[in-house]
Amino acid sequence: MRLEGISAAVTGGASGLGLATARKMIKAGAQVTLIDLPGSAGAQVAQELGDAARFVAADVTDEQQFASALDAAGETGPLRALVHCAGRGAHIRLVEKDGQPGALKPFEEVIELNLIGSYNALRLGAARMARHEPVDDERGAIVLTASVAAFEGQIGQIAYTASKAGVVGMTLCAARDLASKAIRVCTIAPGIMDTPLLGGLRNDVRASLEDSVPHPRRLGSPAEFGALACSIVENPYLNGETIRLDGAIRMAPR
Ligand SMILES: NC(=O)c1ccc[n+]([C@@H]2O[C@H](COP(=O)([O-])OP(=O)(O)OC[C@H]3O[C@@H](n4cnc5c(N)ncnc54)[C@H](O)[C@@H]3O)[C@@H](O)[C@H]2O)c1
Repeated sequence: MRLEGISAAVTGGASGLGLATARKMIKAGAQVTLIDLPGSAGAQVAQELGDAARFVAADVTDEQQFASALDAAGETGPLRALVHCAGRGAHIRLVEKDGQPGALKPFEEVIELNLIGSYNALRLGAARMARHEPVDDERGAIVLTASVAAFEGQIGQIAYTASKAGVVGMTLCAARDLASKAIRVCTIAPGIMDTPLLGGLRNDVRASLEDSVPHPRRLGSPAEFGALACSIVENPYLNGETIRLDGAIRMAPR
């Protein structure tokens, strides 16, 4: 799928990996709708990105809001690409230090955002893409965001790992389901990326994270994520696959 001239939507587009993806897509000639929470920097960021960008406030866990935002993305042309980056973690231990069982609410919230939000992206995005005529034998492409925590969840990441493993699990299933509609689905599983999520880290903690990456010995840059997301949209033979983007890191058991 050529990015030039298409309409694309990026959730979590106001920050980090989503914002970097929007930048790359605009550079390649796409019209990009940033979908993010009302309190995000979306409006300001869209203004900085220029005429090819617009911001629509929506919560990806809310069916109506997400559907309206995707409809708004379709106003700039048939929606052909959706890169879904909205997500977050929560720190929970199964038995907390005070002996209490890990809390249920933050677990549910992370599943709601990361897993149900991704299901919403698949179904609401694909239903819109399916209405368009194919271009070069395809109607669209959806890119989800997992994490290496889907494979090597660390202590405290029980909710995050469950949600991201769910995203990895949905990827092939969704690609098969949407094959008859000529819509592709892939997932990127990033390692440790240098985004505002990690903004509060102490320098020594950051250095030790960098040291844990075999090569290149540094954190991943959001631009590298954006480049891969664009590449997936552009390459018609990539489908049903989760791609690790992690400098060969394998998270340690503790
Ligand atoms: N940064 C990393 O190291 C890393 C590693 C692996 C996976 N990831 C995943 O990448 C994705 C993006 O992370 P990031 O580092 O860019 O984070 P970020 O915090 O910089 O950006 C996330 C964006 O998602 C938005 N968002 C949160 N909840 C939302 C909701 N309900 N509806 C709409 N938008 C919502 C936030 O407002 C924010 O703008 C997440 O799914 C995260 O789990 C990040």
